[in-house]
Amino acid sequence: MRAFEARNAHFDRLVNTPGLKWLGQNTNHAKPHAAVVEAMERCIRDEEFHIYAPPAGFEELRAGIVADLGLDGQVALVSDGAVSSLYHACHALLGPGDEFITTDPTWNWPMAFARSVGATVKQIPIYGEEYGYRLAPERLRAAITPKTKVIYIVDPNNPLGSACTAEEIDGIAAAARDAGAYLIHDCTYRHFAYEHHLAAKRYPERTLTVYSFSKWLGLAGLRVGAIVAHPDLVERLAAAPPNNLGSSILSQRAAMAGLKIKAEWFPGVLAEQRANQALIKEAADRIPGLSIAVYPSNGNFIVMECGPAGIRPDALVAEYAERNIMIRQGAYHTPNFGDRFVKISTTVPTAWVEELVELLPEMVERARGRNEAAQLF
Ligand SMILES: Cc1ncc(COP(=O)(O)O)c(C=O)c1O
Repeated sequence: MRAFEARNAHFDRLVNTPGLKWLGQNTNHAKPHAAVVEAMERCIRDEEFHIYAPPAGFEELRAGIVADLGLDGQVALVSDGAVSSLYHACHALLGPGDEFITTDPTWNWPMAFARSVGATVKQIPIYGEEYGYRLAPERLRAAITPKTKVIYIVDPNNPLGSACTAEEIDGIAAAARDAGAYLIHDCTYRHFAYEHHLAAKRYPERTLTVYSFSKWLGLAGLRVGAIVAHPDLVERLAAAPPNNLGSSILSQRAAMAGLKIKAEWFPGVLAEQRANQALIKEAADRIPGLSIAVYPSNGNFIVMECGPAGIRPDALVAEYAERNIMIRQGAYHTPNFGDRFVKISTTVPTAWVEELVELLPEMVERARGRNEAAQLF
């Protein structure tokens, strides 16, 4: 079996596992608002799916995304999810010999996209107390070279849950501007942050703000997101997008309905998510050697450090998997720091988190005795 098939078979197994508790992919399992479900039902009933959606996205959706960000003067290009936007941007902006800079940890796929078009990748470590789990703009500035074409910042950072301060965003945007580089500001988790600052407000010409409906609205399986940027830049991206026949009409209907109910629906989701983080923190604090790296997290997930407890992250993940609970090993995010932590998603029913924390002492004990490496993805 090829590597991609082994990976696929793994996820196929997970998706087809009844009752699996998804605490590993930062997906959002909150009950959807009735208006979102109705919008999809209407779309199916009216058989809207026979037609192609507008190539850059429904005008209402494009305007709704820009308004949600508050980025007046910028425009949206709807995509099949943030990952598709990132793929598109990397392919459009990078070529052989260009340099792509990001943090370590970061979200890995954009590095693969950059390498696939011949760019080199440089990562700036941010994991650890010595860095405060965040990117100091001076360190970005020091890493930039004349070849730097794209800077990719995940903010809030997945997996750490740290978010850039206003001063940090000022510094990051200034460093990108001085280098003439594109700044991809991946704001997939923005809605969960205590405060969040948009680089596009400081550097509108060359910032690409990446937006997702997977996390705050819980539409991961529907695949809808966007790039928001200066109209000149979007004009360029719109010349050869992978979804030039439009993104899913069903997904866009759900997203438009979601934006309408956001103010009413999302605060409850956020409150439950933050309470879930607190439950995990309390449980970790009770076990010597476990700790939470960044608390509270600005994402819908939390990093639990487990190295000092004498357990390997993959062993803990494998133990929970046997109880039908999916959490993520650090190595998914970073080979350099991955042996230190697991990541746990928190936009899930509180009952799932209660089960997770109740099992924690036993899982830690069992993981300690587990020697064989688990094959995880
Ligand atoms: C930082 C980051 N960007 C993008 C994505 C993908 O988002 P989407 O589901 O909208 O493609 C993820 C998914 O986990 C992510 O963590």
